[in-house]
Amino acid sequence: MMNEFLKPYQERAQATLTATLADTGVPRDLQETMHYAVLGGGKRLRAAFVYLTCEALKVDLTLADSSAAAVELMHAYSLIHDDLPAMDNDLMRRGQPTVHVKYGEAMAILAGDALQAGAFESIAADELLSSTSRTQLIHALAMAAGRKGMVAGQVLDMHHETVKASEQQLIAMHRGKTGALIEFSMISAGIIAQVDNDTREKLRRFGEIIGLAFQVRDDILDEIGDSATLGKQAGADRHRQKSTFVSILGLSAAQSRLEQLTTEAISTIDSLGSSAQGLKLLGHYVAGREY
Ligand code: IPE
Ligand code: IPE
Ligand code: MG
Ligand code: MG
Ligand code: MG
Repeated sequence: MMNEFLKPYQERAQATLTATLADTGVPRDLQETMHYAVLGGGKRLRAAFVYLTCEALKVDLTLADSSAAAVELMHAYSLIHDDLPAMDNDLMRRGQPTVHVKYGEAMAILAGDALQAGAFESIAADELLSSTSRTQLIHALAMAAGRKGMVAGQVLDMHHETVKASEQQLIAMHRGKTGALIEFSMISAGIIAQVDNDTREKLRRFGEIIGLAFQVRDDILDEIGDSATLGKQAGADRHRQKSTFVSILGLSAAQSRLEQLTTEAISTIDSLGSSAQGLKLLGHYVAGREY
């Protein structure tokens, strides 16, 4: 299978997330909702990017676990809120009823809130990392998730349901809503490894381009995929008249843009040499994924 190489990283992420969420003293219904949202599915691609970038930098993966968990918790929170009636109003996610359908809106909002805080907790509590690394990671994650990152992109996404986006606006929206968290995956590895600024910038750039490519593929899959394979409603963007790469550029231009972006991204990390083989493979996988 094409994604066989991903398996060990997905399994590592699953084990880390399970351990991170195994806590006592959490209200039982909150705990159950968080488990449902996080542990029930997901490709773990953001965690895999943390691990494979760390591998490219020859860092022991035990140092990567807290950031891998953090980015997946932040992502899971963003999905819960993205699916809410006030936002995309979706009923299916990861092949199951969305969190608000299963547990109600109030619990969905609150579980999302707790997961967001939990992401920062995961890094702050990691005693394997130096306090410099922890502070830099928390800062980078705050920037990726917040008012200039994911949330900013989501605001643009809502705005462009009614006001058609230009290509520039579309890029800004995608970089925010999806790109920023994926970029964090690569940035976090650079921090964990404490590499020089030049290498950090290369990794950031790779993450930025792959993050954009990731959402272009998501837009294409919404158009050409089927709900059973996607695990979420296909055709939802068209239905809600979203501004997407497909609705603005058309399917074939979106496809060639995706190929351009992937080639460009891979070339930015050429200088990392053979240790970055797995990371490049994941870059290609993201562009060609079927779900
Ligand atoms: C879906 O992300 C939402 C977007 C940001 C496009 P993924 O396709 O990575 O979702 P999971 O984690 O595998 O469910
Ligand atoms: C999701 O974008 C972005 C975030 C969750 C921040 P979409 O709305 O396109 O993701 P799907 O298609 O619902 O997974
Ligand atoms: Mg959305
Ligand atoms: Mg959505
Ligand atoms: Mg989508």
